[in-house]
Amino acid sequence: MHVVWYTAMSMDGRIADTKQSLDFLETIGPSDDTRGDFQAFLATIDAVVVGATTLRWLLRRGHGWPHDDLPTWLIAHDPGLVSDVGSTRAPFRRMEGSVGAVFQEIAAGGHERVWLCGGGAVAGQALESDRIDEVVVTVAPTALGAGPALFDADNIRDRRFRLVECRSLGGDAARLRWLRDRRT
Ligand SMILES: NC(=O)c1ccc[n+]([C@@H]2O[C@H](COP(=O)([O-])OP(=O)(O)OC[C@H]3O[C@@H](n4cnc5c(N)ncnc54)[C@H](OP(=O)(O)O)[C@@H]3O)[C@@H](O)[C@H]2O)c1
Repeated sequence: MHVVWYTAMSMDGRIADTKQSLDFLETIGPSDDTRGDFQAFLATIDAVVVGATTLRWLLRRGHGWPHDDLPTWLIAHDPGLVSDVGSTRAPFRRMEGSVGAVFQEIAAGGHERVWLCGGGAVAGQALESDRIDEVVVTVAPTALGAGPALFDADNIRDRRFRLVECRSLGGDAARLRWLRDRRT
């Protein structure tokens, strides 16, 4: 099973500001390339993992769960979030506790490519459990100073990644892609 953390961040590695605003993403500028890449990426995915704060952000803005066609694992303490999402086309399951165990369950279900949709707290725990195989990140040309980090956890050991893509998106933003390097 291959787990991809596909997201966007500020120059200083924040995925949202302290008020959970994503306004900084506007600095990336209109890029059909970015949208097309994301749709192409989604087409390769057969399961999604999302954290409680990211899901609440989507629900508050009236987006619902936009990927309800994909089997989804929600990592949250609050069981009420599942009913807030309502009915979904694919199974929607809540788990809490060990994030490593969540990925074990997904692998046992035969899923092959998992999108870690966010946020930084879940990504941090996934990295602690060494379950992140790939990171694809659009870097917006601005800094936030504070807010959830790309990997928001206290005790991440040295996990090395190999850079496989680094390109300009046409404006001032960049796309970086790393694969986990488990040789060291
Ligand atoms: N830049 C982007 O493209 C992008 C992508 C994704 C997200 N975001 C933004 O990032 C922010 C959210 O990121 P985040 O790092 O703050 O939060 P997150 O990872 O989405 O969710 C963290 C929350 O999930 C629950 N949780 C985490 N680990 C758990 C565990 N092991 N067991 C049970 N529950 C667990 C806890 O909430 P409870 O205790 O309440 O259950 C925790 O506070 C939002 O503002 C979102 O919009 C941005």
